[in-house]
Amino acid sequence: MYNSFDNPGLVKVLSFLKSHDTEYLSGQDLSDVLKISRVAVWKHIKKIKELGYTIDSKQKLGYRLADNTKLLLPWEITTNLNTKWIGKRVYYFDSIDSTQAQAIKMANNKKENGTVIIAEKQTSGKGRLGRKWMSPKGGIWISLIFHPEFNITATMLFPVAVSLALSNAIEKSTNIKPKLKWPNDVTINGKKIAGILVDISMESNRIESLVLGVGINFDVNTKQIEKVLKKSPNFYGADSIKKNDKNAQPLTLVQTFLKELENIYEYLNTSKFEEIVKEWTKRSSTIGNEVAISDGNEIIKGKAVRIDHDGALVIVSKSKTKRVMVGDVTT
Ligand code: BTN
Repeated sequence: MYNSFDNPGLVKVLSFLKSHDTEYLSGQDLSDVLKISRVAVWKHIKKIKELGYTIDSKQKLGYRLADNTKLLLPWEITTNLNTKWIGKRVYYFDSIDSTQAQAIKMANNKKENGTVIIAEKQTSGKGRLGRKWMSPKGGIWISLIFHPEFNITATMLFPVAVSLALSNAIEKSTNIKPKLKWPNDVTINGKKIAGILVDISMESNRIESLVLGVGINFDVNTKQIEKVLKKSPNFYGADSIKKNDKNAQPLTLVQTFLKELENIYEYLNTSKFEEIVKEWTKRSSTIGNEVAISDGNEIIKGKAVRIDHDGALVIVSKSKTKRVMVGDVTT
């Protein structure tokens, strides 16, 4: 595990290499400028290489950073992140059972409000409604811890609002225009590219913590996922960001998402539900269509006419109106 605050020496060396990437820097230079021993410089360079950065080493000349890592390492996320409070602390795991389970374990610590937990792969990823979530390398698997002072409506609308933030971030950082499928799936070409999960812990009628899980099929093998999941109930296909935009950068997407999330969070805090619902509806592939909703027990059919401020989907069938709180849109 790496975090954004325990590796100041390594980050110092790395930042210096990044800001001087057109020249070679000797171990002695780095040691003099950064005021650390040559042994420490050497150790940090070795670690930096292990973390996937490409370092050119030339005898007598020294080191030069030739290429960045592809990993979403904590200091990569926090550097140049323009949020006020979300993502100031980041924990990175190369492999974990579930970032969501990890975040839930850490959630009672008030200091972790806005903390990000990210993993390169999950061995036991959790999806909505108790389902499994396939999380191989190449995806963005991320959980965030919040201690909100939301009212009940804001809490209910939170997952829907997050899907809007994520689609805004995808649109701003790639050339993809995703759609939103109720309640909170992000789709391209009618297939899923990202899913959202929220775990709430309540204590005597107030929210103790809220853990948000976001899974983005960034550069995963969608054929493989489709093969495994094709028989699962309500599965409607998987797509990936990279397949639709070869130039998409995971780091930019994550940073843009954290910023969009902070904006949406502020909207929820100030009860701007109407604005969220309006923007969500603009992107929705659900509203206006005949749908069937499965909540695990029954199938509710009708025309999806709107979502309410608490995220409920309103369905009209034979001039009867029904509010659906939980489920999957199957058509
Ligand atoms: C869904 O079913 O659509 C929600 C999927 C959420 C998956 C993410 S990946 C990061 C976080 N950790 C988990 O175990 N699940 C969520």
